[in-house]
Amino acid sequence: MPQPRKIIIDTDPGQDDAVAILLALGSPELDIVGISAVAGNVPLKLTEKNARKICELAGRPDIKVYAGAIRPLVRQLVTAEEVHGQTGLNGPQLPEPVMKLQDQYAVDFIVETLMREESGTITLCPLGPLTNIALALIREPRIAPRIKEIVLMGGGYFEGGNVTPAAEFNIYVDPHAADVVFRSGIPIVMMPLDVTHKALTTTQRTQAFRKLGTKVGIATADMLEFFERYDEGKYGTDGGPLHDPCVIAYLLKPELFKGRHCNVTVETASELTMGMTVVDWWGVTKREKNAMVMRDIDHDGFFALLVERLGRL
Ligand code: RIB
Ligand code: CA
Repeated sequence: MPQPRKIIIDTDPGQDDAVAILLALGSPELDIVGISAVAGNVPLKLTEKNARKICELAGRPDIKVYAGAIRPLVRQLVTAEEVHGQTGLNGPQLPEPVMKLQDQYAVDFIVETLMREESGTITLCPLGPLTNIALALIREPRIAPRIKEIVLMGGGYFEGGNVTPAAEFNIYVDPHAADVVFRSGIPIVMMPLDVTHKALTTTQRTQAFRKLGTKVGIATADMLEFFERYDEGKYGTDGGPLHDPCVIAYLLKPELFKGRHCNVTVETASELTMGMTVVDWWGVTKREKNAMVMRDIDHDGFFALLVERLGRL
């Protein structure tokens, strides 16, 4: 087997973040160099704790978890307890973490790792607002050409937004950070709502996790049954979109996804469309193509991969 791919997961757990982290932990093709927490779904003091709870659920207290930005670059923090619950990880009863939070600030960890590791060997996997990534790029611009790829969950175009009619949560919370990232010139793979809304946690799929009969499988089913209720009510669907694991699944089986290399520009001026990811899908502008924008997924293959990998934990 080739050398495992080195990744840093930047995250705001969040039940869907949690499943993404579990997928990464169940996949020997990936080497999680560290997990950096960011304020997003819930405040930072909860996202960093939730990241540690998930590592311990998977039996991996060795994973290094760092706390990063407590708020967006410019705007006030907007959270999503209505979706994720007050703890950000409502559903299962997970014990308080015993593993320690790393002392180092997550942004310093990201910069130091990228400057130390061989150039082009680290992939960044942002699953929340892009504040930590933007701060790292501003703190040390020399990291940009050293980053292999950024594979992120965020944005939406044909599907519109999920926080406003125009904007998806991760981009909406910190549009200025997203603007820094999309203008960075770093190779980006974007998992927008256009693809994640096709990955629904139907009852049958949620039961497949529960039928694993393991601590991880049962906790995952409990998380999804809580997490999906908000979007089921909003969209009238059986199940809710499982956003963040699309990022990790792409690293493992890119063939599950289909998309197009486009220009993506982030709205940072108009309150009406703040945080909108304007995707030039038809190439009508001369703007540089800066992201592979995914639009289709083999959702049965995606959930089969998830159940198989989480079944290993
Ligand atoms: O809009 C969905 C995204 O916002 C997901 O990453 C979810 O975890 C929240 O962070
Ligand atoms: Ca997230």
